[in-house]
Amino acid sequence: MRVGIVGGTGEIGEGMAMRLSRIMDVCVGSRDISKARETCDTCLFSAKEEGLDCSVEGGTNQDVVDGSDLVILAIPFKHVQSTIQGLTGLDEKIVVSPINPMERRDCFVYTPPAEGSAALYLQKILPEGTRICTAFNNIAGNRWRDISSDLTYSVPVCGDDAEAKRIVMDLVDRISLLKAYDAGPLSCSHIIESITPLLLNVARYNRMKDVGIRFV
Ligand SMILES: NC(=O)c1ccc[n+]([C@@H]2O[C@H](COP(=O)([O-])OP(=O)(O)OC[C@H]3O[C@@H](n4cnc5c(N)ncnc54)[C@H](OP(=O)(O)O)[C@@H]3O)[C@@H](O)[C@H]2O)c1
Repeated sequence: MRVGIVGGTGEIGEGMAMRLSRIMDVCVGSRDISKARETCDTCLFSAKEEGLDCSVEGGTNQDVVDGSDLVILAIPFKHVQSTIQGLTGLDEKIVVSPINPMERRDCFVYTPPAEGSAALYLQKILPEGTRICTAFNNIAGNRWRDISSDLTYSVPVCGDDAEAKRIVMDLVDRISLLKAYDAGPLSCSHIIESITPLLLNVARYNRMKDVGIRFV
């Protein structure tokens, strides 16, 4: 399976690309192809340092959609609409949303759109039948990038298409020590998304870093 990362140059996108490109074919997307290539170089360099194989290619966000079976939308919620508007073919892919709409006020606050969650907003703006899953919402970018450390988190996954959800959960289980959990239909995505401001507030008020979740 080839995984594409739209916004693959960002905080979580690059860390995801570094880890995923060591275990599968990855396509890193950007609005600026030279930025995508820089991220590919980062992936290749870090894998080479450890004597590991790495399969990564850079392109535009549209190249990512065209060349991948599964597309992770690693972009801020405020840019989702403009990014999606410019892309075609997502309806033929599995689309994974790690997107958490939130704001930093006195503390971090979950700010979902009228649809109830970023995932349900995506469902509204993508063509009918697009297989959307929510996953990877609660892992900090720093932890993705800290490639020498294992990721030991639980990853709740929401979605309405059983086959797509199975594929996403299998992908999660292949990454480091992550463990996927079925967290219900796409309409439950707000629960996953809203955990992230909680984690950030816990980190902030307890002087912790990169707080995550593990189900036991
Ligand atoms: N950061 C975290 O720790 C974390 C953790 C869990 C979930 N998330 C979620 O993951 C998503 C990505 O977060 P992030 O922190 O990685 O975001 P980010 O670094 O701020 O941005 C990711 C990428 O989005 C693209 N982008 C920026 N401005 C854009 C615009 N105006 N139009 C279109 N694309 C634009 C950029 O790619 P190009 O400039 O290369 O096009 C950028 O590299 C968010 O929805 C966030 O809620 C983040």
